[in-house]
Amino acid sequence: MSDDVGTIAPHGGTLVDLRVTGPGADALSAEAINIPRVAIGERELSDLEMLATGALSPLTGFQTEADYHAVLETMHLSNGLAWAIPVVLGVSDADAHRIGGASSIALTSGPDAPPVAVLRLTESFKRDKPKEALAVYRTDDLEHPGVKALFEAGDTCVAGSLEVLSLPHHSDFTNYRLTPSETREAFRQRGWSTVVGFQTRNPIHRAHEYIQKCALEIVDGLLVHPLMGATKSDDVPPDVRMRCYEALFGGYYPHDRAMISIFPAAMRYAGPREAIWHAIARKNYGCTHFIVGRDHAGVGSYYGTYDAQKIFEEFEPGELGITPLMFEHSFFCVRCEGMGSPKTCPHEDDDRVILSGTKVREMLRAGERPPVEFSRPEVADILIAAMRDQAEV
Ligand code: ADX
Ligand code: MG
Repeated sequence: MSDDVGTIAPHGGTLVDLRVTGPGADALSAEAINIPRVAIGERELSDLEMLATGALSPLTGFQTEADYHAVLETMHLSNGLAWAIPVVLGVSDADAHRIGGASSIALTSGPDAPPVAVLRLTESFKRDKPKEALAVYRTDDLEHPGVKALFEAGDTCVAGSLEVLSLPHHSDFTNYRLTPSETREAFRQRGWSTVVGFQTRNPIHRAHEYIQKCALEIVDGLLVHPLMGATKSDDVPPDVRMRCYEALFGGYYPHDRAMISIFPAAMRYAGPREAIWHAIARKNYGCTHFIVGRDHAGVGSYYGTYDAQKIFEEFEPGELGITPLMFEHSFFCVRCEGMGSPKTCPHEDDDRVILSGTKVREMLRAGERPPVEFSRPEVADILIAAMRDQAEV
């Protein structure tokens, strides 16, 4: 392993940190008492946490109108840097009215909660939701969970840099909540100079494990980086997923080569654009490589199976700074007697253990383990127990 460990440059060159500490924090808290307050939602709080810790470097706050349109139209910021999904703060008409001409506002996690950040407001603008939906999600169908969330968000965007007093509070899995500077330090301590990041919003099944381990064959370390912000209501809840990841790591992962940390983002389900956004964020966490498999960040049938891979071709070589590792639809093949994909397995679908999400949920709900070729039994048992608990409430 080389000496240049943990040195992949953050997006734009500098790892942003918007947290204010020491005497500055006291002054900021005092200031925050006397300025208009806006309670922001779960998704916006996730964005705030990511902005605060530099996960969205080089952004230093919620985006301006110029950047918003540049991102929608060109997948770049107005300064030319690649960026795929706008990070804006939409507020309700009532809040916009209350803010009036204020140049600073305090953001809170709820009506009675203390301020978590001060936004130095430089401009307000109306977001163009139909344009944003078509550009980011490739559809304006309100059945799409990302489009639905977009149309429910406030129409007026307030832009400006952030000074952050405290990260949003989380009571669970705190030892897994590493910031980008902390994951970078963890990689350095382990002596990893190349690290592959893995995004997921699901329990990890054999296909996920297979592509992670294929990737790990060619790099020093694996960061399993589950998304733990808002997901749609029928996705497996974060605490259940975390227990699945822990069980899997307990039995099947090399601890000097793999680690779990939480990605605090909210899920957009924007498929291709989200794959780019996920990759850039993982670069900020210090990953040199990023896994993009089948229908990455997809939902329903809005995106083609490999659209989230093809979109990487729209950027100049090296422009994103992180290397995507693309994997085809993976499965266990009974004739190969092992995991593979259409790239490595010559057999027919009949020989392959492929189960739909719906089928897997049905089995788990019936208390039945999916085949071991599909899911590790330890993971299946956690999911079965969680479904049973859910059915009881
Ligand atoms: S999501 O965040 O991308 O929606 P999901 O858990 O469904 O999460 O997938 C995580 C990663 O594994 C994505 O890169 C996805 O493309 C990839 N993936 C999931 N299932 C498979 C599979 N059977 N074969 C290849 N890649 C897969
Ligand atoms: Mg998926």
